[in-house]
Amino acid sequence: MEKKMTTPFLFILLHLLQFFAVRPDDSSCLPQKSLTCHNDFSHNITCIWKGSFDSDQRNNACLIYAERVDRWQKSYKFKYKHSYNASCELQSFDSARPALKKCSLTFNGTFLFFAWNEVLMNLSCSSSKQNETLFYKPVCHIKVNPPGKPNVNQTTVTWFTQVKMHMRITDFLSELQWKQKDKSWNDPTVVKKKCKWDCEAQLRPNLLMKDETYEARVRVQAFYHDQSGDWSEWSPTESWVSQVGSSKPASGKMFTNINEVDRFS
Ligand SMILES: *[C@@H]1O[C@H](CO)[C@@H](O)[C@H](O)[C@H]1NC(C)=O
Ligand SMILES: *[C@@H]1O[C@H](CO)[C@@H](O)[C@H](O)[C@H]1NC(C)=O
Ligand SMILES: *[C@@H]1O[C@H](CO)[C@@H](O)[C@H](O)[C@H]1NC(C)=O
Ligand SMILES: *[C@@H]1O[C@H](CO)[C@@H](O)[C@H](O)[C@H]1NC(C)=O
Ligand SMILES: *[C@@H]1O[C@H](CO)[C@@H](O)[C@H](O)[C@H]1NC(C)=O
Ligand SMILES: *[C@@H]1O[C@H](CO)[C@@H](O)[C@H](O)[C@H]1NC(C)=O
Repeated sequence: MEKKMTTPFLFILLHLLQFFAVRPDDSSCLPQKSLTCHNDFSHNITCIWKGSFDSDQRNNACLIYAERVDRWQKSYKFKYKHSYNASCELQSFDSARPALKKCSLTFNGTFLFFAWNEVLMNLSCSSSKQNETLFYKPVCHIKVNPPGKPNVNQTTVTWFTQVKMHMRITDFLSELQWKQKDKSWNDPTVVKKKCKWDCEAQLRPNLLMKDETYEARVRVQAFYHDQSGDWSEWSPTESWVSQVGSSKPASGKMFTNINEVDRFS
């Protein structure tokens, strides 16, 4: 009697264990190889493919087809309502390296991706027999759009981490860089801030010179489900004339050593 009761119970338990065992596995992210794709964690996946020498022939069209196929859901015959698919044709973008090709898969809608989503991609070329198949987890390769242009008021810099608020991602790391307009971006002053949508940072007045022209730009990194995304591209650059700080040295005779000023402040 007792035995008869335990068998179905064990059976159910095993099934449950199997069900939960799939998810941690699912959250692991694998490195990408010849096809590398990043996405906005909304509806746009941009891929770069390092094809072989015979993939750069003009008449050899290479396409990527992508479709949502969450494997763990499919294996339990859970019919997901929100499927999506897209395709794009890879194009060379660097004349020095024609075998390097790029295109963007744009799905119909916005904020379609979820942390557990998986996309099956297959790449095939018309005249060569090359093809590649890959399971892609959008959550593993997030690179959000750049933030808006920062706004500067005296020593306060404000910006939005995304121009339009992201419906999924709420935590960002921002990097603010600023410098004198006539200097290069090689050695800017850097400020890092953790922010939600709106972000604010202070410039140190002792690093500023009155009537000098400065430039600032920001970029962001998304944090979502234990994953950190890649840095976004830079925002547009803001330029302003400082109304705070010490007076500019007259003519080119005197040079202010920024590091020295900083040390004695
Ligand atoms: C998709 O993303 C790429 C790279 O960020 C961008 O150049 C392209 O304009 C985007 N396309 C759409 C339709 O948003
Ligand atoms: C791709 O999506 C469209 C709807 O947007 C659908 O009609 C079509 O069947 C899908 N293709 C595949 C192969 O699932
Ligand atoms: C895109 O989605 C909208 C609304 O969900 C739908 O009305 C439209 O037909 C879709 N377009 C394509 C090309 O699938
Ligand atoms: C890619 O997937 C689509 C949809 O499943 C299929 O129609 C197509 O034949 C596949 N292409 C290759 C090269 O596997
Ligand atoms: C994909 O490539 C493999 C070998 O790499 C080949 O056997 C297979 O036929 C190819 N499939 C398609 C649809 O071209
Ligand atoms: C700049 O900041 C000051 C003080 O916080 C505020 O009164 C002023 O309205 C701000 N100016 C602009 C253009 O935002």
